[in-house]
Amino acid sequence: MGKINKYFATTPIYYVNDVPHIGHTYTTVAADVITRYYKQKGYDARLLTGTDEHGAKIAEAAKKHGKEPKAYADEVSEKFKKAWKSLNIDYIRFIRTTDEDHIKVAQEFLQKLYDKGAIDPKPRLYKGLYCIGHEKFMSPEELINGICPDHQTKPIEHAEENYYFKLKNYEKQLEQLISSDAIRVKPQSRKNEILGKIKQGLDDISISRANLEWGIPLPFNKTHTSYVWIEALINYYTYGSQNGVWPADLHLVGRDIVWFHSVIWPAMLLAIDEQRPKEIFGHGFFTINGQKMSKTIGNVISPEDLVNKYGVDGTRYVLLAAFPFGDDGDFSWKELDRIYNADLANGLGNLVARIYKLFINHKFDYNLSSASDSKLWVDHYKVFMENLQFYLALEEIRKEIKEIDIEINKVKPWTQENDEQKAFLQRIIPRILLVTNLLQPFLPQTSEKILQQFSGQIKSSAPLFPRI
Ligand code: MSP
Repeated sequence: MGKINKYFATTPIYYVNDVPHIGHTYTTVAADVITRYYKQKGYDARLLTGTDEHGAKIAEAAKKHGKEPKAYADEVSEKFKKAWKSLNIDYIRFIRTTDEDHIKVAQEFLQKLYDKGAIDPKPRLYKGLYCIGHEKFMSPEELINGICPDHQTKPIEHAEENYYFKLKNYEKQLEQLISSDAIRVKPQSRKNEILGKIKQGLDDISISRANLEWGIPLPFNKTHTSYVWIEALINYYTYGSQNGVWPADLHLVGRDIVWFHSVIWPAMLLAIDEQRPKEIFGHGFFTINGQKMSKTIGNVISPEDLVNKYGVDGTRYVLLAAFPFGDDGDFSWKELDRIYNADLANGLGNLVARIYKLFINHKFDYNLSSASDSKLWVDHYKVFMENLQFYLALEEIRKEIKEIDIEINKVKPWTQENDEQKAFLQRIIPRILLVTNLLQPFLPQTSEKILQQFSGQIKSSAPLFPRI
């Protein structure tokens, strides 16, 4: 037997200062879809997700809730787990940065960085403006009238002794690796942005805090804790290195954190002579009805709201069918309803119901493997999937469903004689099953149900997707 290909994908680990919302859901569903795609292809495909639990932001949020940071993180990370369960996210592990093995691997990693000389041996006094919302130092150009535009807060003046990672040393190597696609940064616009920034020059970065207890102590000086981003990035390596799947094939992230993943993280790995991730994909940000999603506006949508309305598979589908994955876009209930009704209730659901009604009048053993996939549109679908162009992959499927519908309306099988009808069904059902197979990463439960219906394993007349 040949070696099984592996595919190791990750989502960002989400901060536990916030409960899961449609933003986290978007990334996680997309990561699950691409992982399921590779699983279906026969790969040993694994998805890692989890929560980011250390740092000032979490310590502050816990305090606000009158809780100890760990107790607070326990509660919120459970909510993420519950949300992913409700969306049928098939992850291999839910990693928490407070997990013992992560703390151990992170400390070993930091020690290696120190031993290799990638960290300055002595801390230096650092003065800067720190935004807790971002968990990073802000440059004066990033602020508007001294205020962080994303969080509408004044960054904290910070002056303390910090250890430094010599990021500048990796400038040339990073530029070469990214421009040659040895590390693919996608889509192209993000790659250009990152290369542009690297060309302007990199500064060494502070990687420790002297006065923040809620973090992982530096192994070479336990009076300091690791800067939260540094240890958070290591989570991927905690799982990957312990389970023989390093390097990651894909870090799927929002465009807000592409810099950390495509510059700081690969530099850390270069510094300890480890392999770099193969791809970082930064998807777009979205608005809700044209407005930024925010607690103050009160337009935050939870995964529960979505599942209650569209069901599990319906939610997975509408999120990725709404607009191209790399781009910014807008979610509105109206538009999501429209996609759900057009593609699922009237599209796939109606098609299956019509043909199934005729299918049950006949007795024939249906051979599922007869759904041949050697078709040009299927090749297109695969290329789109592998480039994470979900919207376009789904477009191929939409077109095929439309064509099948046209054919059915032309032939009108319900008017045909028995034998003729049977022959038609034997020709058309494989096309439906092929569509079903290709939709499996998006609609795992529904696909299973359709396959069972046509193989005679279950009888069902309930609509797959009730109209909204
Ligand atoms: N904890 C860090 C990540 C560390 S990874 C080593 C973090 N957490 S976060 O909770 O803020 O999650 C940010 C991610 O959530 C984004 O990169 C994106 O994947 C997702 N999104 C949150 N809001 C979003 C939108 N409005 N639109 C699209 N994605 C969004 O950053």
